Amino acid sequence: MSKHILGILCSGRGSNMQSILAAINRGQIKAEVGIVLTDKPQARALEYAKSVGIKSVCVNRKECQTQQEFEEKLIAELKAAGVTLVILAGFMRILSPYFVGEYRHRILNIHPSLLPSFGGAHAHRDVLAYGTKVSGCTIHFVDECMDHGPIILQDTVPVLDDDTEETLAARVLEKEHILYPRAIELFVDDKLELLDDRHVRIKQ
Ligand code: GRF
Repeated sequence: MSKHILGILCSGRGSNMQSILAAINRGQIKAEVGIVLTDKPQARALEYAKSVGIKSVCVNRKECQTQQEFEEKLIAELKAAGVTLVILAGFMRILSPYFVGEYRHRILNIHPSLLPSFGGAHAHRDVLAYGTKVSGCTIHFVDECMDHGPIILQDTVPVLDDDTEETLAARVLEKEHILYPRAIELFVDDKLELLDDRHVRIKQ
């Protein structure tokens, strides 16, 4: 089996990207990163990826006239880098069916709540407002709907009475940094079986 080439898409800090790079370096994920892409020039992920010698490119959404143009540029970069698996790691843009169709069942996303609850951009705020006693994170395949595709892995954390968005986010992030590398490891080791448009079985 030839080695998977990852394309990691980020919009900000890039701590999940760093946890994936660390997992590759320690041999947990048997893949390489072909490119890191951001939609914002100031994304800290870009700086970090550059500093460790990974090809990194900003496709500035603001400089694209349309979503189609933006996605065509992203896809051109991913193809030029030979990417076989697209990793959304804090990428704060919705991708259209055009993009999803180009990489069907080969796009993973992380979301900082227990989907299908609390999708969207303000998961921690919404969890605290609702008053749930647990939260967590979800790794899923990306389909045409936001925060919706078949779930690969989830993990939970308690929600504490005195939590703020920041304390809850930090507790969830610790789990994210373990769960995302694990899900990618399962994918590249061909341990994920997509049974239908909702169910993923982990092969033993
Ligand atoms: C993470 O909480 C991720 O789940 C969410 O955005 C955040 C990105 O953090 N989608 P980072 O850029 O990986 O540090």
